[in-house]
Amino acid sequence: MKEHLELPIFRLISELADEINKECYVIGGFVRDLYLQRPSKDIDIVVVGSGIELAGQVAARLGKKANLAVFKNFGTAQIKYKDLEIEFVGARKESYLRNSRKPIVEDGTLEDDQNRRDFTINALALSLNKKNFGELTDPFNGLSDLENFVLRTPLDPDITFSDDPLRMMRGIRFSAQLRFFLETITFDAIVRNRERIKIISKERIADELNKIILSPKPSVGFILLEKTGLLELIFPELLALKGAETKDGIGHKDNFYHTLAVLDGICATTDNLWLRWAALLHDIAKPLTKRFDKRLGWTFHNHNYIGEKMIPEIFRNMKLPQNEKMKYVQKMVTLHMRPIVLSEDEVTDSAVRRLLFDAGDDIEDLMTLCEADITSKNPEKVKRYRANFQLVRKKLKEIEEKDKVRNFQPPVDGKEIMELFNLPACATVGEIKTRIKDAILDGLIPNEYEAAREYMFSIAEELGITK
Ligand code: CTP
Repeated sequence: MKEHLELPIFRLISELADEINKECYVIGGFVRDLYLQRPSKDIDIVVVGSGIELAGQVAARLGKKANLAVFKNFGTAQIKYKDLEIEFVGARKESYLRNSRKPIVEDGTLEDDQNRRDFTINALALSLNKKNFGELTDPFNGLSDLENFVLRTPLDPDITFSDDPLRMMRGIRFSAQLRFFLETITFDAIVRNRERIKIISKERIADELNKIILSPKPSVGFILLEKTGLLELIFPELLALKGAETKDGIGHKDNFYHTLAVLDGICATTDNLWLRWAALLHDIAKPLTKRFDKRLGWTFHNHNYIGEKMIPEIFRNMKLPQNEKMKYVQKMVTLHMRPIVLSEDEVTDSAVRRLLFDAGDDIEDLMTLCEADITSKNPEKVKRYRANFQLVRKKLKEIEEKDKVRNFQPPVDGKEIMELFNLPACATVGEIKTRIKDAILDGLIPNEYEAAREYMFSIAEELGITK
């Protein structure tokens, strides 16, 4: 593997480790990614001795371009240099108490350090000392697991997962991200240890969920979360979508698998994490709104609006951001039915204008979500929906060019209405504003100041308001 350690930084670390007479290795994700030919900028260095001491020497030699941070309590140091983040740590032996993720740490050998790692593919170490530069130490056949796409723990998986239950999520995330397979014994141990996930912080769980969502085929991860029983513990609202009921011979689709198909589908067109979240949550209120009606069959009335309302609590529980990103997901979920309804009916200018007004700059994302939402197995249906969406897209373009309603602000604002009619801030002002906006969206008047002003006077007259 010598040829892969060609970055000059490795030669420098090698030289300095030899000077202080310490064994030194590059280990973990960086080595795994080297073999998988995935570029990585995060380098973990293990020193049999003090990681902080070696980091200090390396930083001194790199000079001003390097940024050194020392974490004495953890016995680690980090150097940021160019686009690299290099973590130095002394080889350690860890033992865990049952109710904590915080291990009791002692100095150890390279072998001790490899033993405490999560998966065999993450325990590979390449020597950096001159005498055996680039030599691989692989006590658990991690290389063969890499070649066979297998995820396996170095020690008894019950110990590895109980020590640090986040590793269960990491294993599932690697399955989705790298398309590796959890070996049966490892999978079974996740099932047995699943309840231990409760000692992990919500933020760390959300980090892993985001990585699953950002993987090429997130359904792989979510199906494993479901099968291991972890989903029930970390995301019960998603699990509630599972199942297809039949009544009087009428069935509905399994919304869990439908949702995953939509999520996988959208991954082909977008890397936007929040649009992917919207795909995951677009039908989240279906279990709550599900009804059976003898005439209509299964209905999920207003599931988009109820879904929008469920999102703040879901995000709060998961410690996901409560900011404009969440609002964007809410907006996508509320609006996700609109282009479909539009494409089923006659595509009127007024409906298109309203959609453009409500979606604003997110209209493209909304169309992407709606197109991914077509998961029917009936090719005729799919063809028809696709053709209708093409029509909606064409109309959207025409209307936007003509009327410029995307992000428009009504040409007459509340302040002007209050001043002209000597009104305080009140419901009447709101009503006049809304009616002007509606008239523009319905195409009754053009989106222009003069026309809006004239229309405002006619409403005022109707309401009996004088100047
Ligand atoms: N590790 C571990 N248990 C964890 C987290 C990390 O054993 N819960 C070990 C693994 O050997 C891992 C290394 O620490 O390879 C570095 O961890 P990290 O940088 O978090 O993960 P990577 O494996 O590098 O992968 P990614 O960056 O994709 O998270």
